[in-house]
Amino acid sequence: MTTMDVVVLSLGGSVLVKDEDPSAYLSELAQALAEVSSNAKLYIVTGGGRIARFYIRAGRALGAAEQSLDLMGIDTTRLNARLVITAMKGHACPEPPRDYEEAVRAGMSYPVVVMGGVAPGVTTDAVSARLAERVGATRLVNATSVDGAYTSDPKKDVCAKRIPRMSHAELVKLVSGTAKGAGPTTVFDPVGAEVLARCRIPLTIVDGRSVKNLKLALEGKDCVGTAVSS
Ligand code: UTP
Repeated sequence: MTTMDVVVLSLGGSVLVKDEDPSAYLSELAQALAEVSSNAKLYIVTGGGRIARFYIRAGRALGAAEQSLDLMGIDTTRLNARLVITAMKGHACPEPPRDYEEAVRAGMSYPVVVMGGVAPGVTTDAVSARLAERVGATRLVNATSVDGAYTSDPKKDVCAKRIPRMSHAELVKLVSGTAKGAGPTTVFDPVGAEVLARCRIPLTIVDGRSVKNLKLALEGKDCVGTAVSS
């Protein structure tokens, strides 16, 4: 008997809400995800992207507490989850789970589970790592707006080089000390990196805008990105 791979995808909000109309991208993505799910149980955690940042910026300017900003962020991640569920056309669980227990239960009934954030104080990368631990994932894929981890920020430094592979310990070191508080973080959330290192769950960081490459990563095949393992 062969056991099915269990794959968790952290789908960055920056990838999901990149254009005015993301429907063409979402249709292509949904098709690829459905194909992947014929050979693997798939859990997707959607980020908030610029929709989250819009609310967090406005709320912060109005003097909201960090916890309230996080709750606005969580709502936007769940809204994005609903968009992906819509694109999956009945292939995914119809309602985004609110916590890990619900996600595990949904995974027993549906081939694809799509959810957003769960509680204040973390990002959806950390949620995806904790979910990966919870469901005993074979691998986690982080689909973001850069094609891997770089020696420095490629958006600011033209000399930055992509790191094709690294250890969990190296990832933890690379992302440690980055952003705290509601709002954008780094190539992978430091809390999530620690969780993956502890559980030794392999992570691949890819540019989510290339659906073909993202699909290769989800299938555990060679792809352009950064492969993180112990
Ligand atoms: P994201 O996971 O999208 O954070 O959640 P991000 O760092 O902005 O990631 P990218 O840029 O989309 O890749 C948006 C915000 O929602 C809150 C946090 O404030 C986070 O910054 N959030 C999210 C939580 O408080 N808890 C969660 O479980 C998830």
